Amino acid sequence: MKTLQKPFGIYIHWPYCLSKCPYCDFASCPAADFDEAALWPGYERDIRALPEERPITSIFFGGGTPSLMSASFCRRMLDLIRARHPVADDCEITMEANPDAIDMDKMVAFREAGVNRLSIGVQSLLTTDLRFLGRRHGRDSALARVAEAVRAFPEVSMDLIYARPHQTLAAWQIELTEALALGLQHYSLYQLTIEEGTAFARRGVQPADEEMAAELYRLTDRLMAAAGIPAYEVSNYAAPGHECRHNLTYWRGEDYGAVGPAAHGRIGLWAVQHPASVAEWLRVGAERVKLTPVEKQEEQLIMGIRLRQEGYPSAGLSREAVADAIRRRWVDERDGRLFPTLSGVLMLNQLTLLLMP
Ligand SMILES: C[S@@+](CC[C@H](N)C(=O)[O-])C[C@H]1O[C@@H](n2cnc3c(N)ncnc32)[C@H](O)[C@@H]1O
Ligand code: SF4
Repeated sequence: MKTLQKPFGIYIHWPYCLSKCPYCDFASCPAADFDEAALWPGYERDIRALPEERPITSIFFGGGTPSLMSASFCRRMLDLIRARHPVADDCEITMEANPDAIDMDKMVAFREAGVNRLSIGVQSLLTTDLRFLGRRHGRDSALARVAEAVRAFPEVSMDLIYARPHQTLAAWQIELTEALALGLQHYSLYQLTIEEGTAFARRGVQPADEEMAAELYRLTDRLMAAAGIPAYEVSNYAAPGHECRHNLTYWRGEDYGAVGPAAHGRIGLWAVQHPASVAEWLRVGAERVKLTPVEKQEEQLIMGIRLRQEGYPSAGLSREAVADAIRRRWVDERDGRLFPTLSGVLMLNQLTLLLMP
C-alpha cells in the first residue's frame, strides 16, 4: 500500500542509556540492566490504544538509546503494530543508535525486524571533544559503526553537536568536511545548548557565544549546500528525497501517536503525554489534553516556520506581521508561503514571536 492517505507517524520512546551525557536533558536514565518483560505491558497497552483505522507512514524509535533494546523486543512491537494497522509499503522505520550500543549483528537483526533507517549519535569526530561531551565511544568506533550502518540500512543519518566551547570556524570546517566525506544522505547538526538541570549547567559550561554560533551556522549552511545536502529544517540537512519523514510529521503539524514513557503524540486537537517515570507510565498511561484552535495554530507556527525549503502558509497570519518580517528580511514570501531566510533562522525566536497569532 502506497501512502495516499493523510500521514500518521508513531513515536516509540525507549528510556534507558548506558550512561547520562552531561549536556542531555532528554527523558533518559542510565541503566546497565533493564527488564524488557516488565516493560512489555506498557508498550503493548500504548500500541493497542493507537487509533486503529490510520495507516502508518512512519515509526520512530527514539530515546534514550533505543538500540539497547533487544532486536526481538523491537520485532515484537513492530509485529503488533503490523497486526493492528495497515502499514504503508514505504513506511519509514527509524531507530536511534549510539555507536557503543549497537554492533553489526544487531544492525542486521533490527533490519530484519523492519527498521530501515538508522540515526547514529556520533556528536563529534574529535577525540578530545568526545571526551568533553562525556561520550563513551571514540572517533574510530563511531566511524566503524557508521560504515557498518551504511551496509545494513538503506537510510543512515548521523547527529553531530557543534558550537562547542572554544570551537573555531576552521576546526569545524575540517570536522564537518570529514563527516561529509562519509557520504551519508542525512545529517542532523545541532548547536550545543546548555539545558537546566544537566551536568554542564551545574559546571557552568558556556557554549560558543551568539556571534560565533551565528558564524558557525552560516558556515555549516554553506558547506552543506555546496555538498548537495541543504538544510530542510533549521538543524536537519538532507539530499533531496532523503528527508526524515517522521520528523516532517512534527514540523508539518500532522498527526502522530505516542508509545512508551515520556512519549507525546498529537491527534487533531488532542495532545497525548506519557509520564517520564517508567513506573508511573506503567501504572497510569497517557494523559490527554484538548488544545484550543489558537494553541494548535501557535504550535503549528513554532514547528512549521522551521521548514526552510517548504515554508509555512501565510494565510491566517497577520498581514502586518508578515510585512514586518519581510521588511526585516527574516522571511521571503512566495506562492502564499513564508520561507525563513538565513537571517530569519538566526533570529528564529523573535521571528516566531512576531508572527504569533
Ligand atoms: C535523543 S538524543 C539520542 C541519541 C542517542 N542516544 C545518542 O546519544 O547518540 C538525540 C540527539 O540530540 C542531540 N542533543 C541532545 N542534547 C543536546 C544538547 N544539549 N545540545 C545539542 N544537541 C543535543 C544529540 O545530537 C543527540 O544525538
Ligand atoms: S545524548 Fe543520547 S546517550 Fe547521551 S544521555 Fe542523551 S539520550 Fe542518552
